[in-house]
Amino acid sequence: MKRLLTGLQPSGALHIGNYLGALKPFVDSYANYESYLMVVDYHALTSLKDAPTLRKNILDVVRDYLAVGVDPKKATLFQQSQVQEHTELAWIFECLVTVPFLELSHAYKDKIAKGLEANAGLFNYPMLMAADILLYDTDVVPVGADQRQHIEYTREAAAKFNNAIGQTFKEPQGIISDDVATIPGTDGKKMSKSYGNTIPLFGSKDEIAKAVMSIVTDSSGERPENVYSIHKQFRDTASLDALYAEHKGKYKNLKDALISDIEALVGPMRAKRDSITDADVVAVLKDGSDRARAVASAKMRDVRQKIGVLLT
Ligand code: ADP
Ligand code: TRP
Repeated sequence: MKRLLTGLQPSGALHIGNYLGALKPFVDSYANYESYLMVVDYHALTSLKDAPTLRKNILDVVRDYLAVGVDPKKATLFQQSQVQEHTELAWIFECLVTVPFLELSHAYKDKIAKGLEANAGLFNYPMLMAADILLYDTDVVPVGADQRQHIEYTREAAAKFNNAIGQTFKEPQGIISDDVATIPGTDGKKMSKSYGNTIPLFGSKDEIAKAVMSIVTDSSGERPENVYSIHKQFRDTASLDALYAEHKGKYKNLKDALISDIEALVGPMRAKRDSITDADVVAVLKDGSDRARAVASAKMRDVRQKIGVLLT
């Protein structure tokens, strides 16, 4: 089986755009690989310095993945910080790449343009990500389109090490979800937590209803396009068109129908999520981190040997 690895940002509540664009495609395919799913808490530390929030977000992101159907027996779910080989290998890559090479990072430039602190961790971020991936001889890395350059950095780090020190790392392929539809938010623009236009995935039924009722409608066209374009993620075109024809001009009815359709999907996942305790998540992560460490530490032994720090 090929190896798949991806990193989950512990960055707070998910919305239905995240679910349809990232979680669902992942859940549909991860069992075809030997899959590693890692909470990238040390990447989060580049911008999040509040311990209670970080702790809560780590627990929540794992709970979310378990709730949408990831089986921790079929995938290794683990915490980056608990496998110390990641930061160790990142240091080695940092000693092989140059500052001008890292200065080409779009993600770094975008983040400091948005006002994030230009700390050295943020600057070195791509080398920690390279270590995350290369430690596991990963074949494929499913990520959003914004991560394309990070995959290139990873391949370059592997090539630089292999050329300078000897063949050690496999160059991975990104699986970039370009063809996944962009789910619009309540204002018709891309749904994103940074735009405040989201429908929360695990909100209460009332919170979801409130978000749906706030979808901006425009009475000039045949149908409320912003409602329709979210709704078509939940129903096939024939039944959706019949519904919109039947309730033509009655936006409230159409929004009510959308609320029920979202609830039909989310309700069971929310119930499952509510049943997963912090202790359950801690146990899953402990088991996963032990399994991941076994793979990573064998790889690091080889790396230490090759670079000359292992004396016997
Ligand atoms: P946000 O824009 O809310 O900050 P992220 O950038 O953290 O979301 O994205 C996390 C994942 O969810 C990525 O894989 C991204 O492609 C996916 N995603 C985010 N927003 C949408 C959307 N509106 N439609 C489809 N997929 C999305
Ligand atoms: N940089 C990725 C993001 O922002 C998260 C990440 C860290 C990652 N390490 C990874 C993704 C390894 C895939 C593989 O989404």
